[in-house]
Amino acid sequence: MSSYCIPPQVTSLREVILWAEALFKKNNLYFGHGTDNALDEAAYLISYCAEKPVDFTDDDLLDVLTASQRKKVEEVLYQRITNKVPVAYITGKAYFFGLEFNVNQNVLIPRSPIAELVGEQFSPWFDYTGWLNNNKNRALSILDMCSGSGCIAIACATVFENAEVDAVDISEQALKVANININKHHLANRVKVVQSDMFTDLPQKKYDIIVSNPPYVTQSEIDSLPDEYHSEPELGLYAANNGLQFAIIILQQAFYYLADNGIVVVEVGNSAQALQALFPEIPFTWLEFEMGGDGVFVLDAAQIRQYHAQFLKAI
Ligand SMILES: C[S@@+](CC[C@H](N)C(=O)[O-])C[C@H]1O[C@@H](n2cnc3c(N)ncnc32)[C@H](O)[C@@H]1O
Repeated sequence: MSSYCIPPQVTSLREVILWAEALFKKNNLYFGHGTDNALDEAAYLISYCAEKPVDFTDDDLLDVLTASQRKKVEEVLYQRITNKVPVAYITGKAYFFGLEFNVNQNVLIPRSPIAELVGEQFSPWFDYTGWLNNNKNRALSILDMCSGSGCIAIACATVFENAEVDAVDISEQALKVANININKHHLANRVKVVQSDMFTDLPQKKYDIIVSNPPYVTQSEIDSLPDEYHSEPELGLYAANNGLQFAIIILQQAFYYLADNGIVVVEVGNSAQALQALFPEIPFTWLEFEMGGDGVFVLDAAQIRQYHAQFLKAI
């Protein structure tokens, strides 16, 4: 029996949402995995329990929850409040780039600011029109390194209709989720998963765009994260070397895997300063996002070639 019993006088959808909102506020939850406030989170969770779309009509809000829906709300609140499980893992769904993705605790909850860049077809850093003019007979080739749920790979395949995307991850469990999402979005003909420890088992091939949201969180940062993050797989968060372990591998290997006019886009989050300090002379382009987020850089193929020797010197 959960410790969150809905009081008998709280009956309508509206009342249950407001009651849950108050409970969330009282219990000091962290919001950052899909919603950013207690009311939206409560509305989303209660809509899931009541099997209603979250954009309730006024009439919906007057609906009285059934006994089984009330029980479900109480169970879900226990998960969310006592176990601090993020909503996306409770519902099994997350939204990224306006698309719905299946998620479970084997994948990070999609939230990379790279979505915004994908929406702009990586413009102005990648000249897609120029690329199309020069490449009439081949598919645009994209690598999503550290693909997790496949969210970035799938978003890329959605905006570039002729793209073929390799979605690489070391985790078999994560790739199972990626495959579910690839099928869900009918992209099995253009998005392929590859199980590989970074580039180790990735066949030699040139990509026009290498994009990655790799693990980049240091141990001390992980230790200080709100409880909600500890539901996520540590494999998706932790990186040694001041958070740069995987970013450095990408910078080193891009020399071999990037096409002549390609670009590399990598998210390193709060490890951006450590990266810039490690390579003080390299002019990383740090992106700004209208919808928030930072710590994402772009380098082009000429820069990848020019600084290759320096990247190799980093551990
Ligand atoms: C930060 S998550 C990103 C997932 C997804 N791209 C996103 O934006 O939500 C990083 C991913 O890297 C994967 N990973 C960790 N170590 C790896 C390695 N050595 N080689 C390939 N992938 C790795 C994890 O399994 C995890 O799915």
